[in-house]
Amino acid sequence: MAIIAPSLLSANFLSLKNDCDMLNESQADWFHLDVMDGHFVPNISFGPMMVDFIRKATTKICDVHLMISSPEKYAEAFKNAGADILTVHAEACVHLHRNIQQIKNLGMQAGVAINPHTPVDVLEDILGDIDLVCMMSVNPGFGGQKFIEHTYKKIKQLRSIIDEKGFNVKIEVDGGVTLKNAKAIIDAGAHVLVAGNTVFSSPDPKAIIASLKAI
Ligand code: DX5
Ligand code: ZN
Repeated sequence: MAIIAPSLLSANFLSLKNDCDMLNESQADWFHLDVMDGHFVPNISFGPMMVDFIRKATTKICDVHLMISSPEKYAEAFKNAGADILTVHAEACVHLHRNIQQIKNLGMQAGVAINPHTPVDVLEDILGDIDLVCMMSVNPGFGGQKFIEHTYKKIKQLRSIIDEKGFNVKIEVDGGVTLKNAKAIIDAGAHVLVAGNTVFSSPDPKAIIASLKAI
């Protein structure tokens, strides 16, 4: 059974409390919170202030995905806002190992995200230090995009490295997850499914979450 992490990026920000309550009542495991800076990605979403508000609206795990340049400048702010997991992009970090240590030292779980063009190999020397890999299955920046098929191969490749070396690292697949492709994504080796559009565009989001959970 996969961990289901709905992305609030597709929520209704004018009634965010309702969407948080809906997720609290649902079988969702984590809240996936997408932070965008308009620099690393061509879109701007929200920052620590929103994470702080959302943190107070749930006891579920807050999984914060930073799509920002220089994430080391903001790690402490996200810790203070209540992030449980903080994920940085490999492409945004010149000193990735140092960034991971900073996150761990602040008492959060550490994740590394990789873009569709980034090979799985870049993770090899960091897998022993992290808790999560966020495998982007769309180009980061927007919800509601189409799943890139090449991701299946990368998930399988990463899962076999993790299993072979016995690392305790979860694979999270982020972008374009639907009820149709979720099983194939899990079969390829994913532990965590992020779903934004699939959940929030539905008239019955809780039922969609339950269906994803039942796969
Ligand atoms: C994309 C974000 C994703 C996104 C997923 O940049 O990282 O978390 O919100 O949304 P869907 O599920 O709509 O592709
Ligand atoms: Zn995300």
